[in-house]
Amino acid sequence: MAEADEVLSMVRGGWVSLCLRATCELGVVDALDQPQDLATLASRCSAAPVTLGRLLRVLVDLGLVSTDGGRYAVTTMGATLRVGDPSGLRHLAMMQTELPNLTAWRHLADAVRRGSAVYQDVNGQTSWEWLAAHPAEEAVFNASMARRAATQAAAVLAGYDFSGVRLVVDVGGGQGAMLAALLAGQPLLRGVVAERPEVAAAATAGLTAAGLGARARGEACDFFAGVPAGGEVYLLSNVLHDWDDPQAVTILRSVHAAMGLAAELLIVENVLDAPGRTSREQRDVHLVDLHMLVMFGARERSQSQYDDLLVAAGFETSTLAPSPNSWNVLLTRPAV
Ligand SMILES: C[S@@+](CC[C@H](N)C(=O)[O-])C[C@H]1O[C@@H](n2cnc3c(N)ncnc32)[C@H](O)[C@@H]1O
Repeated sequence: MAEADEVLSMVRGGWVSLCLRATCELGVVDALDQPQDLATLASRCSAAPVTLGRLLRVLVDLGLVSTDGGRYAVTTMGATLRVGDPSGLRHLAMMQTELPNLTAWRHLADAVRRGSAVYQDVNGQTSWEWLAAHPAEEAVFNASMARRAATQAAAVLAGYDFSGVRLVVDVGGGQGAMLAALLAGQPLLRGVVAERPEVAAAATAGLTAAGLGARARGEACDFFAGVPAGGEVYLLSNVLHDWDDPQAVTILRSVHAAMGLAAELLIVENVLDAPGRTSREQRDVHLVDLHMLVMFGARERSQSQYDDLLVAAGFETSTLAPSPNSWNVLLTRPAV
């Protein structure tokens, strides 16, 4: 029955994710820099040929690998999982299947029943504490966030004119990838990434490696306590969706306190009711919304839900900027 087959493939979805993780861990698509037979590939991946062949069978079924005359090759789809691929999907595949994240998702029903996060209860610490204690996984997390930087920067640049702006502060800006993309086309613009201490250090290193050391750096902060002052533009990209309403208002108040009256705030998020998203993109936002629930007791929001937070923190209601992609930019400023 077609309906049952559809549901069966949904039931298998978790296994598919874990096949992708194993593929990344074994370096299968990286080792396939040219078509290879099973024995050569198994030796390059340090895997037993018979069991690697069984994994490859599934990868062929998924369209990630093709096979012809006993030789295997990566498809265009499979190549997106390569180390260094601009999609950064390898980092996402690894990050999403970290055991603490899977354990939290295993308790989604509890989160839905209670209306709050489960990550801390089941893992004994917050996700931020876990990342701080696991530097390798922290780097993968930051890289998986950075994979979206170019598209987010394109949305920001389409929605806001930076000519005349001298300093932008990206609050919770990760390793600085979006800031670097913004600065690339604006030679007079300087930037600060305000981040947790270990991430701020990674941002300084990343921005310096990108040749932007003279114009941009990371600065350690706890955005619940305060953020650097002096910016003409403040960015909050994928930060507010990590927090429940009272916490999000506290972060916004910190930003408000650091801003001059003429400064502006740009919020980059997937706004639930923004127009123009495809049904596939919309489904992805809805799944990320559940991820925010299990991880943080947080949520994706509509524009009016963001406006409620903004007004509570002393800002004007927002304007939704036109976007060339699925990212949304809400523009606001301190209310006078
Ligand atoms: C979902 S990531 C978003 C990263 C980036 N802005 C983006 O759009 O991809 C949220 C960021 O908030 C940072 N963060 C979490 N708690 C923080 C705190 N108390 N103070 C400063 N930054 C914090 C995290 O380190 C992380 O980089």
